[in-house]
Amino acid sequence: MRALVTTAPSGSQDEAEELARRFGLVAELRKGRLVPELLAAAQGAPVLVVGSRRADLFDGDRSFRASTGMGFLRLVRARKGDADPLVKAAALARGDEVLDATLGLAQDALVATEATQERIVGLEASPVLAAFVVAALRRLPGAASEAAARIEVRCADHRTALRELPSGSFDVILLDPMFRAAQEANPLFDLLRRHGEHAPLDPVTLREARRVARRGVLVKDAAPGAELTRLDLVPLPSRRTARIVFGWAPAE
Ligand SMILES: C[S@@+](CC[C@H](N)C(=O)[O-])C[C@H]1O[C@@H](n2cnc3c(N)ncnc32)[C@H](O)[C@@H]1O
Repeated sequence: MRALVTTAPSGSQDEAEELARRFGLVAELRKGRLVPELLAAAQGAPVLVVGSRRADLFDGDRSFRASTGMGFLRLVRARKGDADPLVKAAALARGDEVLDATLGLAQDALVATEATQERIVGLEASPVLAAFVVAALRRLPGAASEAAARIEVRCADHRTALRELPSGSFDVILLDPMFRAAQEANPLFDLLRRHGEHAPLDPVTLREARRVARRGVLVKDAAPGAELTRLDLVPLPSRRTARIVFGWAPAE
């Protein structure tokens, strides 16, 4: 059974239908039903409920309010002049064209597009997560709405998408596979654990990403960077206490 999208009393059926069409989910009229009734209708699949100001994903015994996790806070900090570690590691600058091939909650995409002021394409393999993040981006406070609107969410597996892209299509490609998910305490990581694509990054995909990049590929890993080492990448210097490390693979 595919995930359902429906509305809260304040929500728009048009939005539910648009998200369903875009990400291959099923739009369901609410018809006054309570969440347990909707979950029963979904037969074990999650239910995304869109309201005017918030959206929630009901998933078995859990619910997740649509959010971009730390994305908004990182955006605010970046605007205050704090250097975001990802922006620094990829040396992102105004005008760079970026592909975030592991969009997740679009936390990295938000700070990346803030640095570049350009549109950014985000690939997410999970239809549920893609719909969730679109709903979350649309509901960010006004201060973030311009940055959010520059993120073009596509539901696609980057292993196929990268193979199909012409060489040198983007300046920088971001890859943040599910290496670290097991260690994260943030409840939204439970959502990523439940619905995210868990396949490790393979060397063939990394090579494709280097071909598609004009400058290079930034890969994120948990410290000390065991996955980076597996991929023959050298972790970039970071604070001794950093929980995240980055590896840079120059374009080929
Ligand atoms: C650790 S999360 C990324 C978090 C993200 N960097 C952020 O800022 O919120 C990894 C995400 O990448 C997605 N993913 C993993 N492999 C993928 C693939 N082959 N194609 C597209 N998305 C993929 C997962 O479904 C998951 O949502």
